[in-house]
Amino acid sequence: MKKIILTGDRPTGKLHIGHFVGSLKRRVELQNSGEFDKVFIMIADAQALTDNVDNPEKVRQNIIEVALDYLACGIDPTKSTIFIQSQIAELCELSFYYMNLVTVARLQRNPTVKTEIQMRNFESSIPVGFFTYPISQAADITAFKATTVPVGEDQKPMLEQTNEIVRRFNHIYGETLVEPQILLPDNAACLRLPGTDGKAKMSKSLGNCIYLSETADELQKKIKSMYTDPDHLRVQDPGKIEGNTVFTYLDAFCRNEHFERYLNEYPNLDELKAHYQRGGLGDMKVKKFLGAIMEEELGPIRERRKEFEKDIPAIYEMLKKGCDTARAAAADTLADVRRAMKINYFEDAELIAEQAKRFNLGE
Ligand code: TRP
Repeated sequence: MKKIILTGDRPTGKLHIGHFVGSLKRRVELQNSGEFDKVFIMIADAQALTDNVDNPEKVRQNIIEVALDYLACGIDPTKSTIFIQSQIAELCELSFYYMNLVTVARLQRNPTVKTEIQMRNFESSIPVGFFTYPISQAADITAFKATTVPVGEDQKPMLEQTNEIVRRFNHIYGETLVEPQILLPDNAACLRLPGTDGKAKMSKSLGNCIYLSETADELQKKIKSMYTDPDHLRVQDPGKIEGNTVFTYLDAFCRNEHFERYLNEYPNLDELKAHYQRGGLGDMKVKKFLGAIMEEELGPIRERRKEFEKDIPAIYEMLKKGCDTARAAAADTLADVRRAMKINYFEDAELIAEQAKRFNLGE
């Protein structure tokens, strides 16, 4: 069986370092590993519209931001197909058929949807499109016969639902669809990178994000104002590592070689943490170290983004080609699906011949 990747992001803002460590970095590695026959990266504009009905301009403006972030991180259109969800009509058709395979009760149990409903104050009146987006996401994944879906932990319930749909479909209509596997980040700190304020998740509305397109100055400013241990008042005081955002970021970004380059009094992160916990290590020193590491990682991304920004029409051309490639792949799957569901009437000469015979038997 072919190894195929599909993943994507909602274009509701620029991508931030949570996206980067949680998924983007991995995608680039997977793309370059040569292990996959195809890689599809989708800008999920239709899904973004499920909770931004009244703000289509936001979605429209952010398609290019997300595309630029992808390219800047190293997604290479000669190796990966980048496309826009709404341009692939087959995805809607597939969603429509999948709706028959999922119950309302099952959708209501999806924990990610549950939290999102609360966050958006949808409790009293949930838009049907929003409520059913896990079904549409199953269509996104299965239309490309994806075997591997690299995403963050919050997408786990979507993958579980997708697999239930695949199993149900194959059980009823015969082996047609492929069950995908989720690929989570392997570093615990990368699973759910907290915001700079220490709050659970980076989110635009909380204003606690570090964006990939941040300038060098903004980056250092945000790191300097990061949440640490509120009880670590004087340098000589013992400090806490747990819940200390600076150390969580170090867990996500720091490698031993960084100590050689930027902080050679320590051999590794464990020693730095131990010193902080003992007391005698100031927040500013740790933040400066983190700043150097993050600049090393994000600087080249920022520069590449600036290069790509010089030719925006070329990026739309690339996206258009990506949509054509994606549409062809989805159309192949849809042909299989229609055949399996017995709604391929005009392809089925046998059906027509058999009925012609049956209707004319009495003559
Ligand atoms: N739900 C994802 C997000 O919020 C975006 C998405 C849509 C997606 N369809 C997908 C991710 C299919 C992986 C596979 O970012």
